[in-house]
Amino acid sequence: MKPASDGSVSMPRAMSCVRLRSVTKEYMLGKALVPALRGVTLDIDRGELVCVAGPSGSGKTTLLHLMGCLDNPTAGELTVLDKNVAEMSDGEACRMRGTRIGFIFQSFSLIEVLSVFENVEYPLLLHGWPVGGRRERVEEVLAHLGLKDLAKRRPTQLSGGQRQRVAIARALAPNPDLILADEPTANLDSTTGHDVIDWLSRLNGEYGITIVFASHDPKIISAARRNINIVDGLIASDVTL
Ligand SMILES: Nc1ncnc2c1ncn2[C@@H]1O[C@H](COP(=O)(O)OP(=O)(O)OP(=O)(O)O)[C@@H](O)[C@H]1O
Ligand SMILES: [Mg+2]
Repeated sequence: MKPASDGSVSMPRAMSCVRLRSVTKEYMLGKALVPALRGVTLDIDRGELVCVAGPSGSGKTTLLHLMGCLDNPTAGELTVLDKNVAEMSDGEACRMRGTRIGFIFQSFSLIEVLSVFENVEYPLLLHGWPVGGRRERVEEVLAHLGLKDLAKRRPTQLSGGQRQRVAIARALAPNPDLILADEPTANLDSTTGHDVIDWLSRLNGEYGITIVFASHDPKIISAARRNINIVDGLIASDVTL
């Protein structure tokens, strides 16, 4: 480490995961413009466990979609895993989503006609993993999440908590740097919701995967080490515990 001119030694900046500078997002609704984010500046470093909370319609899902390269800002600068999103081609954004970012949704979003094994395998198949490596990785992830015995079941043959655990396995399979979880406990009872939070916190602790939740669930808010409150498309508070 190089000393500064006054002789002090500065710590290197933690590695950036997501960086937003004056980001706005407006949706077109017919002829009307709906402002969803109104100038958000935010840094999330790698390895953080963050909860974005705020009232309904405040912009939480919009923010997660931008962080997940599912959508582009209307204005401002967005960098995800060291890549400027404005400079990414559709193919690059797709590869980023498929290999480095995992998504977990309130509705689980599993494919009903596929088995648990196939659901978890699906992102690997899409992104060209060879068959042997794919099978090995899916088995590893299912074992890690205690889902081995459910591998052959269809999502309709699972409880809500088991479905969400499969969604976590699917998000984890490509070994992502970042997992975005939008209201992951909203359709679950309190105990099962706790399990989902525990699993995601464990992935953060064990593998250093950055986790960003959007949720107003007090259980998630208290599990996160950093709470960002968003109101009307703007950051109202940002507290690291
Ligand atoms: N596709 C869309 N077209 C038009 N307006 C949209 C679209 N998606 C979101 N919005 C609007 O953008 C604003 C922010 O929505 P967003 O879904 O990000 O809120 P949220 O904080 O996730 O809300 P909730 O807690 O209800 O999930 C809202 O006013 C919403 O109506
Ligand atoms: Mg939402």
